[in-house]
Amino acid sequence: METKFEKKLLCIGAGYVGGPTMAMIAYKCPQYKITIVDINHNRIAEWNSDNLPIYEPGLDEIVKTARGRNLFFSTDIDKGIKEADIIFVSVNTPTKTFGVGAGMAADLQYWEKTARHILQCAESPKIIVEKSTLPVKTALAMERILTSDNNKIHFEVLSNPEFLAEGTAINDLENPDRVLIGSRQTESGIKAGNELVEIYANWINKERIITSDIWSSELSKIVSNAFLAQRISSINSISALCEKTDADINDVARAVGFDSRIGKKFLNASIGFGGSCFKKDILNLVYICRHYGLNEVADYWDSVVKINDFQKGRFIIKMLTAMFNTLVNKKICLLGFAFKANTGDTRESPAIYIAKRLIEEKAELVITDPKALKNAKMDLKDIDGNVKYIEDPYEAAAGSYAIAIMTEWDLYKNLDYEKIYKSMIKPAFFFDGRNIVDHQKLFEIGFNVFPTGKPALTHF
Ligand SMILES: NC(=O)c1ccc[n+]([C@@H]2O[C@H](COP(=O)([O-])OP(=O)(O)OC[C@H]3O[C@@H](n4cnc5c(N)ncnc54)[C@H](O)[C@@H]3O)[C@@H](O)[C@H]2O)c1
Repeated sequence: METKFEKKLLCIGAGYVGGPTMAMIAYKCPQYKITIVDINHNRIAEWNSDNLPIYEPGLDEIVKTARGRNLFFSTDIDKGIKEADIIFVSVNTPTKTFGVGAGMAADLQYWEKTARHILQCAESPKIIVEKSTLPVKTALAMERILTSDNNKIHFEVLSNPEFLAEGTAINDLENPDRVLIGSRQTESGIKAGNELVEIYANWINKERIITSDIWSSELSKIVSNAFLAQRISSINSISALCEKTDADINDVARAVGFDSRIGKKFLNASIGFGGSCFKKDILNLVYICRHYGLNEVADYWDSVVKINDFQKGRFIIKMLTAMFNTLVNKKICLLGFAFKANTGDTRESPAIYIAKRLIEEKAELVITDPKALKNAKMDLKDIDGNVKYIEDPYEAAAGSYAIAIMTEWDLYKNLDYEKIYKSMIKPAFFFDGRNIVDHQKLFEIGFNVFPTGKPALTHF
């Protein structure tokens, strides 16, 4: 039965990247056997159930089609390593919280354990693919670990960073802007790189599959995220200036974005970026630059994170000032908690910071979100305050003094705000951290409206 597959691919790490990425390969390539393993048994059980551990539009269909056919989720990592021809490593690489580089460097403990695990179990040559985002030159460490057993087995390490964005992961995987494959520029390195190219070429045009040396590939991923985050911080920094000068950030972004050299995307002013990657990857870039004595470069990228913190802090001050400098015992409804729309992921969500700061001000919180309430509860489990989690936005907003939009879910664009207004304490406040509602209309309903990067619309 097993022999019917052309290749056996294993992915170590069944998270937001490993799950969807490998499910897509399995969906597109029934000729390969794909196994995804994880140390987290609950996560694997969820991948094998009707309630997948992550929410991503279109993911359920793909998993249901391939699961049991050529896609398997398992906790048997040893067996997976033994039988695989190619191993993708997609474990988490969070920011280090201890020791040297705490708060800046990547914590590579999970990644190193995986490398050692591969060495311990492998019985035949393998291609190892770094999918996790890693500091430049990490592949060298991977190679050193894998060759520490006197080169009994040949391993070829490739870098194939993942560029998917949560919320649009399935489309990103099906129609990527590019796939990047970095390899050693040796004969065996290039051969292994080509083998990976052929896997993606099953559904992606080869013009979009780019190859490079391994270090450029590792660095490109971090730099891509740094550039994306930099755009957000750039527009957010200008939103602060707009609020001081009665300019409108949407008009500024439109005018600037019409320049084809700049482009229109990623110019929405907001409460700030979140997600598990942007901040971690920039801090990692900053750390590497400092390591090499490039302090000016490090400071430059560090400022992207500083502006993001500034933007979140500004939002709280805006709420506090508008609401007569006290939030004590005031019920405030947060519309959304996920770090962006169309995901249940709340890692580094600006909503976490806002929620904590509002609790410090002794406000009462009601949090609503169509997909992220389970994660929100975990994020705030240790805080000492009055927090409720209500899925229905109308019920969540009833009796509140203010509403604050945290996530740009489509759902929140067209709620019956007239009905919501009637159910709130007056004067009713509306803080739009994503600029997604019709501010003039809300003002006419009676709200005092505070958009991001635009003049406030108030009745007093
Ligand atoms: N989330 C994104 O949008 C995204 C996008 C591109 C790249 N990345 C990168 O991909 C990597 C994974 O991110 P993620 O969001 O999927 O993380 P995640 O935390 O969702 O998943 C990682 C998984 O690896 C498992 N794991 C850890 N150590 C293991 C081990 N030794 N053996 C087996 N399993 C192990 C964990 O249990 C977890 O389920 C990170 O380096 C991240 O920077 C993430």
